[in-house]
Amino acid sequence: MKRTLAAAVTAMVLPTLAIAQIAPAQVTLTIDLAHPGSVIEPAVEGQFAENLGRGIYDGIWVGPHSSIPNRNGYRTDVMSALKALHVPVIRWPGGCFADTYDWRDGVGPAARRPKGINTNWGGVTDDNSFGTNEFMDYSEDLGAAAYVSLNLGSLPAYDGRQWVQYMTASGDSALAQERRVNGRDKPWSNLKYVGFGNELWGCGGSMKADYAADLFNRYATFVNPAPGAPAFVKVASGPSDADYAWTDTMMRDAAKQMGAISLHYYTIPGPSWQHKGSATGFSENEWAATLSKASYVNTLIVKHSAIMDKYDPDKKVALYVDEWGTWYDQQPGSHPGFLYQQNTLRDAEVAALTLDIFFRHTDRVKLAAIAQMVNVLQAMVLTDGDKMLLTPTYHVFHMYVPFQGATPYPATISGPRYVEDKYDLPMVDAAAARSTDGKLYLALVNLDPDRAAQVVTGLTGTASGQILTGPKMDTHNTFAAPDTIHPAAYSGRSERGRLTFELPPKSIAVVAIDQK
Ligand code: AHR
Repeated sequence: MKRTLAAAVTAMVLPTLAIAQIAPAQVTLTIDLAHPGSVIEPAVEGQFAENLGRGIYDGIWVGPHSSIPNRNGYRTDVMSALKALHVPVIRWPGGCFADTYDWRDGVGPAARRPKGINTNWGGVTDDNSFGTNEFMDYSEDLGAAAYVSLNLGSLPAYDGRQWVQYMTASGDSALAQERRVNGRDKPWSNLKYVGFGNELWGCGGSMKADYAADLFNRYATFVNPAPGAPAFVKVASGPSDADYAWTDTMMRDAAKQMGAISLHYYTIPGPSWQHKGSATGFSENEWAATLSKASYVNTLIVKHSAIMDKYDPDKKVALYVDEWGTWYDQQPGSHPGFLYQQNTLRDAEVAALTLDIFFRHTDRVKLAAIAQMVNVLQAMVLTDGDKMLLTPTYHVFHMYVPFQGATPYPATISGPRYVEDKYDLPMVDAAAARSTDGKLYLALVNLDPDRAAQVVTGLTGTASGQILTGPKMDTHNTFAAPDTIHPAAYSGRSERGRLTFELPPKSIAVVAIDQK
């Protein structure tokens, strides 16, 4: 940040008092309670769990014979951590893995399932012990909707059709009987979303957009729920980043059959895929680059939505940001191809800023899935043998649970900007929504790593909740010190009758307001 000369001189003379010398920035927050937006679909706080690295195996599934405490093979520590997040939806099995996956390899007695090779992620052997029944039961146990990605890249539509019948058919069809033999009597009722391929422009088959649109139409014709089963949303494989031509073609040629189109966007602070930057030990420049690049998802949503509006003015087709999050150079010493990275206060800021952006676009963004749930990229939870830690991103998702199903209000911030080198962002970000419990919730994010903010609202009443912050930009939890960063109790105060919040540097707060 740019300090005043006086502050800089003071910092040189009295280094220990330097932070205290920077006056808090004065910020005003205005909430427009007269103009509520459409409801924040709980699914925007969704998760992505690809068969990748230690995301599934080790992360959520250790098998029933493991010495790691488990219930029917599922880690109990991870399960109870995820339960507290009210995970609304889980997307599986990929990602790139989806377009190489044959669901038949993952059903039936575990000992008879064929071993495969995960050619996308590290070339490791996959014993297929986590398959359809294991995924569907897991999401059902968590109370989450299931979002299954079909293989469009390398299997015929018939296979997708059979898979969906296996999951949704009642009656005495062969597939319903097979499911029963495999231990599941009733069809799963939580199959709410079916993805038709993944990144068809790349790992899903290197297709052109008009070919992908035709393929979507063909598969969507044949892949339907079994008679009597609940409908599911058919999700077309959408663009990466700013590929607006892809969205245009898909919407022009395939909007009729689609319930949603996906968007994938990763925050990569470094200049290239070869130099993405480190998850820890980064500079302030990288901090600012990360927050700036994360905020770019707003532009992407605005521009892709404008194209969708051309073909779908009534907004019947949703935009699902079903892969998002930070992607750094993988942790030194970790398995190549496993995408394992640490998670710091910077990731918490990215999570909060991104969720706030989704809340501003509830007319189109009805689902999002952070990549990925456990042990991969911007994870909620990291595991090491029988140890588990909750990441700063987990804590943000936990603090943001009240926003699931809430009604958002426009929240306008006026105050200084956070400027670092070429990066120029509002210093404070905010979201406001009335939750299903009737309370007004506020989320406040201070992006500046050095300067506190005093946020004055036009609201009256009292406010209490939690705050997440830390001494360093890369404050994080480790297996040796798993509780280094966690939320603390936080409240606002009334100043001249107006609710006011003292927001420390690099912090995220969520409060419930009692308006009395
Ligand atoms: O999340 C990791 C990978 O990123 C996914 O498999 C793919 O869809 C994307 O490119």
